[in-house]
Amino acid sequence: MAEQPSNDANVVTLRNESDVAVVTIDNPPVNALRHAVRAGLAACFDKAEADAAIKAVVVACAGRTFVAGADITEFGKPPVSPILAEVCKIVEGMSKPVVAAIHGTALGGGLELALACHYRVSDAGARMGLPEVKLGILPGAGGTQLLPRAIGPEEAVRMIVTGEMIGAKKALALGLIDAIVDGDLTQGAVAFARKLVTEKKPLRRLRDQEDKLAATRKDPKKFDEIAASLTARLRGLRAPVACVESVRNSFTLPVDEGMEREREIFRELVTGDQSKAQRYIFFAEREASKVADMPAGVKPRDVKRAAVIGAGTMGGGIAMCFASAGIPVTVIETSDEALQRGLGIIRKNYEASAKRGAFSMEDAEKRIGLMTGTIDFNAVKDADFVIEAVFEEMDIKKDVFGRLDKIAKPDAILATNTSYLDVNVIAQSTMRQGSVLGTHFFSPANVMRLLEIVRGKATAPDVLATAVAVGRKIGKVPAIVGVCHGFVGNRMLRARSIEAERMLIEGALPQDVDGAIVEFGFPMGPFAMSDLAGIDVGARARKALGVRAEIADAIADLGRYGQKTGRGFYIYNPGSRTPQPDPEVEAIIVAASKKNGITRRTIDKKEIVERLIFPMINEGAQILEEGIAQRPSDIDVIWVYGYGWPIWRGGPMFYADQIGLPYIRDRLAEYAKRANDPRLEPGTMLNRLADQKATFASLTDSKKTVA
Ligand code: CAA
Repeated sequence: MAEQPSNDANVVTLRNESDVAVVTIDNPPVNALRHAVRAGLAACFDKAEADAAIKAVVVACAGRTFVAGADITEFGKPPVSPILAEVCKIVEGMSKPVVAAIHGTALGGGLELALACHYRVSDAGARMGLPEVKLGILPGAGGTQLLPRAIGPEEAVRMIVTGEMIGAKKALALGLIDAIVDGDLTQGAVAFARKLVTEKKPLRRLRDQEDKLAATRKDPKKFDEIAASLTARLRGLRAPVACVESVRNSFTLPVDEGMEREREIFRELVTGDQSKAQRYIFFAEREASKVADMPAGVKPRDVKRAAVIGAGTMGGGIAMCFASAGIPVTVIETSDEALQRGLGIIRKNYEASAKRGAFSMEDAEKRIGLMTGTIDFNAVKDADFVIEAVFEEMDIKKDVFGRLDKIAKPDAILATNTSYLDVNVIAQSTMRQGSVLGTHFFSPANVMRLLEIVRGKATAPDVLATAVAVGRKIGKVPAIVGVCHGFVGNRMLRARSIEAERMLIEGALPQDVDGAIVEFGFPMGPFAMSDLAGIDVGARARKALGVRAEIADAIADLGRYGQKTGRGFYIYNPGSRTPQPDPEVEAIIVAASKKNGITRRTIDKKEIVERLIFPMINEGAQILEEGIAQRPSDIDVIWVYGYGWPIWRGGPMFYADQIGLPYIRDRLAEYAKRANDPRLEPGTMLNRLADQKATFASLTDSKKTVA
């Protein structure tokens, strides 16, 4: 973590407010429970217990948040006593009431610490959750046993398996907290504690509270149904299943046995490969938005209003990102018809989310209310951040930027949402190249987390910093990339597509290729993805590059553009998105093999996976060599958040390190020889690292260890 207090002795302090002891944790930035904090807590609670003048204890945190969890950098290392479960036992076992005073976010071990307290109060803005599942583990200090006792197993399993937070209001309604405090939180908590003493309230230890378990014990059907729906589409993730098992133990086992089993499962998961990969991605995600050469003191520009040019699929999705983050946004189209169509789809999307329960209908209206639609291009003059999302064609984009340059505020940031095009060329159509950059959103833009921020050669540091800040504000995971055709993600995707197509000609069918990579953990394979994105889109992109893909182009030539036409690499029943193998496609593929004089053969799954993924890794290495990506972990973040790479495999570069670069290099050399295709030859960086028996991770000196 960035800031560490210089003196570990002060990370937890005790002060007496007459008869109430206030234990304060001060471990910036997020009060994670590293060893010094745990030791400090144990010492302060011992002291408060021993002091006869003290009648109650409040646990509070300094800084921006209550405890946000265990210190993730300590995972995978030998645990040092007192471990959190021991600290929680001390807190729970106190002979005087203990009240947690929660502000900011009480997460993971932080919420477990609060659950060990006898009572909990928070301010109105506090949020609480057990997000361990996102790190490939489960709450290991009693969370899976105590949360069900606080709010019932059905609500608990939902919170624990999704890892999502709930706000103070909901926490109060569910019984997770006992009061919301107005005004000064610590003082409110002290008053609450004092009242407990005066009113001689019992020490309410959650471990002894069984009333919320009774109904589920009698009939676990509802619990089972919720658990089944939460674990229906895991794509190989183990932690969610373990979370369900452990929460189920809360109502089937005595509490001590449930706690013990939770600890065992925690140990299994935390030492496993999946959690290691997921912890790596946690830190990689935070690194990806850091600009390695950002001069000190650069401040992002103020963004009060955005404008999006184009209300098509991308433009509409991007506008939704701003409105959902509370930033007013103007949507500009060229015709009223296109504008109304776009705004109509936005409204439908918001209403559908509200109906699903993602937010209230009132919230949906609030978001829609932040949008202004117009066909007057001059409306960009009010925006601080303009994103152009028009057709992916250089001349059109250049024209838009030329016009923007004349109308937009002098300090407005001008971003192009492009998947492939040269941001430097686009910038040249303005007189303010420093204010231009690329923002590559992924479809559907209001859902996908990744945002590739494309840094042009003239992009000013504060413009880059603003794009990162805006990206985070609208809920994206920003990753900075340089200019090249397809940037990082799509450039690597192209390496995969070439090999996918080649395997069809050699003997595989689309369902074989897709099946193998889905088994690897992707949500869909390259051919199902082409059908979803539109085969015509890929065909156009290849045309622009002057390259062909024999089978994909033949299919596109037949007007089979994928899901939108009901046929592509697969066939789709009306109204269905489920790909069905199509004999007509098989005939096209077999004919192509014949035309190329190739005797078709069965390609096994291992070879399919290697041939899809190793060329991507090779391309990723080349991207690093050229400085298009700042670090290998940025590439991993891009693939996890933009392309469905299974998070528990940590991204292509992390995966490469796990299986060993010499093996990948040798296999690529073999595949290159077989295909007589120099594009598959291992590149300079892969060769160098393989020769040195080094890893991609060795290229960056990360202090965030996930050993
Ligand atoms: N351990 C170590 N470092 C952590 C951390 C943790 N639990 N949580 C955050 N950090 C670090 C981040 O890496 C980041 O460091 P840098 O500034 O050096 O990049 C810094 O704290 C600030 O974090 P964010 O940039 O994410 O800040 P934010 O304000 O956007 O978000 C947050 C704050 C919501 C708390 C977010 O950091 C978060 O979700 N943290 C993780 C929470 C979590 O997963 N807790 C469970 C831990 S596992 C556990 O507790 C298991 C158990 O049973 C004991």
